[in-house]
Amino acid sequence: MAILKLARMGHPVLAQRAAEVKDPLDPEIQRLINDMIDTLSDSGGVGLAAPQVHQSLRIILFSVPAGRGGDETPEIPVTALINPVIEILDDDKQTAMEACLSLPDMAGKVARAQRIRYHALGADGTPIDAQAEGFHARVLQHEIDHLDGILYPMRMADLGTFGYVDELKKR
Ligand code: NI
Repeated sequence: MAILKLARMGHPVLAQRAAEVKDPLDPEIQRLINDMIDTLSDSGGVGLAAPQVHQSLRIILFSVPAGRGGDETPEIPVTALINPVIEILDDDKQTAMEACLSLPDMAGKVARAQRIRYHALGADGTPIDAQAEGFHARVLQHEIDHLDGILYPMRMADLGTFGYVDELKKR
């Protein structure tokens, strides 16, 4: 078990396009995924991308905690996706607050597509082809953005909604 150091906004690893994973079953990749799971669990977040632990590789973790996704989205335990690709299924967007382990203590409103389809390899190398809606779709879009050097403030339409979580909560 290892808890990895988190990269914060401003570190160049968060601003570049991450590389495809060639062999998901490579022991180093498997160890990275396990360490990312430990790191996410320690942080209390819902998702983590490999660049956030200073590894410029196309690997993400996501989860949908009970109650977070609304009635239509069941709880999903922490799941790893390797080389994920998303396809927007409709242009319907919903705006909600987002936060990120790379911008500690901050949050802001981001519009995201409500329905997506995604393709990836699982941690065991098996292909995944699935759809996601609502919070599940939002988490995936946020994490996959990390693989392309995009942080959520770069997606914000109104920077006036960006701020420190403890200040935003007072309002
Ligand atoms: Ni993030």
